[in-house]
Amino acid sequence: MIQFFQVTKYFDRYAALRDVTLRVDKGECVLLTGPSGAGKTTLLKLIFGAEVPDEGQILVQNRNIARLRASDVPYLRRTMGFVLQDFKLLPQKTVFENVALPLIIQGTAGLEVRRKVSEALKAVGLDHKRGSQAAGVSAGEQQRVCIARAIVNSPIILLADEPTGNLDTNLTMEIIELFKAIHARGTTVMLATHNRQVVEEMKGRIIRLHSGRVLSDQGVYSETNSLSCP
Ligand SMILES: Nc1ncnc2c1ncn2[C@@H]1O[C@H](COP(=O)(O)OP(=O)(O)OP(=O)(O)O)[C@@H](O)[C@H]1O
Ligand SMILES: [Mg+2]
Repeated sequence: MIQFFQVTKYFDRYAALRDVTLRVDKGECVLLTGPSGAGKTTLLKLIFGAEVPDEGQILVQNRNIARLRASDVPYLRRTMGFVLQDFKLLPQKTVFENVALPLIIQGTAGLEVRRKVSEALKAVGLDHKRGSQAAGVSAGEQQRVCIARAIVNSPIILLADEPTGNLDTNLTMEIIELFKAIHARGTTVMLATHNRQVVEEMKGRIIRLHSGRVLSDQGVYSETNSLSCP
């Protein structure tokens, strides 16, 4: 599903990721953790095609994304959803319009848009807020709108960068349950977080990054050990 081979990414002369090799299989739930500046966001952006590696190779669904043509990026992104910490919703638009946006960009037909948006909003428990202005709903609801927007295309991979960063403990728990449900439906989930509650409750494979390197990985493959992930 996702493979990194000795991937290095520089910003100026600073290596944000150094010699990272890892493999994530279909249906896994991976928690990327590590201190600020460890390279978590950079790793997710590389998978999403928002950054390109300077060294090494990245395969996402067997496509070498380092060599992807610009015209192939939209296709790659259709198979992925990305949830960010800061909501990046269009505040003046309704909840429905925000979730519909990726479908509209792709030129999806109106009836299909309504069906898919309803399904995504139901999955996050917000169908009743479809007509509300995005800026008007609560912080937890805004984050759920972002998750609905990220899953509206039924992505194979869901990437999330500190998705509970601005939320209190109760709302964090709600979002954790939502990610668990999405994972239970077969979606591969990769979630970057500092939050111990998220790491403990999600019960996924933990990859720790530090200074751009993989410090530990519960899912490392070796000759004697098959996948040792919970
Ligand atoms: N666009 C950029 N330009 C310059 N440096 C960058 C850029 N993006 C990331 N970096 C640097 O790369 C390193 C890794 O950053 P990254 O955002 O991946 O860390 P992180 O683990 O996500 O941190 P945080 O937990 O604070 O979100 C940091 O030192 C950061 O300053
Ligand atoms: Mg980050």
